[in-house]
Amino acid sequence: MNDSGIPQEGHNKIPKGWLAFFFGMIVFLVWYIVSYTPAISGWSFYREFEQEMKAGEKATASATADPGKYIGNAGAIAEGKAEYAASCAACHMADASGGIGPNLKGNLKYGSTPDKMFESISLGRPNGMPPFQQQLGNEKAYKLIAFLQSLRK
Ligand code: HEC
Repeated sequence: MNDSGIPQEGHNKIPKGWLAFFFGMIVFLVWYIVSYTPAISGWSFYREFEQEMKAGEKATASATADPGKYIGNAGAIAEGKAEYAASCAACHMADASGGIGPNLKGNLKYGSTPDKMFESISLGRPNGMPPFQQQLGNEKAYKLIAFLQSLRK
């Protein structure tokens, strides 16, 4: 006890949890500064950003970019045929020989590779081919392409 009348500092022990937290914070701060200071660790926001962009590009590329994937697949061709009858036959005729739209079994001026056909179907073409991306999405368009390619052999 303090009987002198002069105020003195108490000698209560600091709670252990508080001390652990305090030193933990110091360790965390040092770790944080070291690992996120470009001059020390080489960490860079730009590098991290670029890595994420690359990962994202790969994911979307592998998920979307193969319009030819159903070519030769009988089930997909049958689905494509049904979709063709519903969405395309009005202009290109039931047998794709052409009407308002051109013959799809002949030479295609915008190209007859799966990639080019996908462009024609999804984005449309200027002289009256409507864009079907909204209505069909990618998978149905791929099946349509498989059907159209099966007519071209
Ligand atoms: C409203 C009528 C119409 C409908 C419906 C339509 N097309 Fe077309 N399509 C056209 C016209 C017109 C063109 C020619 C466009 C041009 O020359 O710029 C064309 C062009 C195309 C081409 C490119 C041909 C080339 O010469 O390169 C493809 C492929 C095609 N259509 C496929 C389809 C498919 C598949 C569907 C069904 C999802 C469809 N079209 C529905 C009218 C239509």
